[in-house]
Amino acid sequence: MWSERFQFPSGAHCRVTVGQGLEAEMAAEIERHPARGLFVCFDPAVESAAQRLAQRLGARACWSVPGGEAAKRVEVWAELAGRLSTAAAERGALLLAVGGGSLCDLVGFLAATYRRGVRLWLAPTTALAMCDAALGGKNGLDLGPLKNAVGTIRQPEAVFCDLDFLDSLPWSGRRGGLAELVKMAAVLDRGAFEWLEARAADLLAHQHEAWRAAGAAGSTSATPWAMRSKARRTWRFPTAMRSPWACWRNAAPWARRKPSASRRC
Ligand SMILES: NC(=O)c1ccc[n+]([C@@H]2O[C@H](COP(=O)([O-])OP(=O)(O)OC[C@H]3O[C@@H](n4cnc5c(N)ncnc54)[C@H](O)[C@@H]3O)[C@@H](O)[C@H]2O)c1
Repeated sequence: MWSERFQFPSGAHCRVTVGQGLEAEMAAEIERHPARGLFVCFDPAVESAAQRLAQRLGARACWSVPGGEAAKRVEVWAELAGRLSTAAAERGALLLAVGGGSLCDLVGFLAATYRRGVRLWLAPTTALAMCDAALGGKNGLDLGPLKNAVGTIRQPEAVFCDLDFLDSLPWSGRRGGLAELVKMAAVLDRGAFEWLEARAADLLAHQHEAWRAAGAAGSTSATPWAMRSKARRTWRFPTAMRSPWACWRNAAPWARRKPSASRRC
């Protein structure tokens, strides 16, 4: 298991934990930082795990939200805000999202806007959400065909990446996460890029099994690397992340090649 606490200049903080079977960690965290009511929103694809978690954490309510992009609609946000209001959720309430990037975006926006802001935890359940969507604080809703048309930046207090969730993901659900890993490695970390390159055939050919192995490998595997890497570079070293020189220095060899004369023109 890997866990690190990030402190922001505003005084806000976020603990990111990556591992398997994190229920006990979450229960311990809520004991350390009790909430005035815990409200869980979950993706139907992970219903049984989310229900079990809600019970273990003593949630006041546990709500199923439409899976995938359908979650990021104003109507869904309004419905959940209404339910929070009916349940008399106060400013000290804690929202927990258990689902993919879409649900994390929706619940992040809900936490930022309900009563001008309540507490937020994220438990991402897809490869893309673990590597990307749950980190960085961006959230949003779609307006018709306009993706992420409204949104805010709000850091969660805690992100729990339980790699066991990856077991039920179909191969199509892993592609986005794999593409994100390759992109981040190419730009930020030569070692990680080489790690992925050496296992590319396995990841692509054995598909499901290789991803399970990558997830189960622990601290050296791809998903925890991506989480550490994005969390540390965006939160701890924001200037290094933005510096073109730092990116070039860390990049994979092929990404560092100068453009050829023909490509330049
Ligand atoms: N905020 C950010 O920084 C950020 C970054 C990247 C992407 N995003 C957003 O994330 C969204 C895409 O997220 P996503 O790729 O995680 O998919 P998703 O949340 O849209 O879910 C895709 C499908 O996977 C199912 N699912 C979720 N967890 C599962 C599990 N463990 N096993 C089996 N099925 C499961 C869902 O029910 C759904 O049908 C987009 O809306 C995108 O805009 C946000």
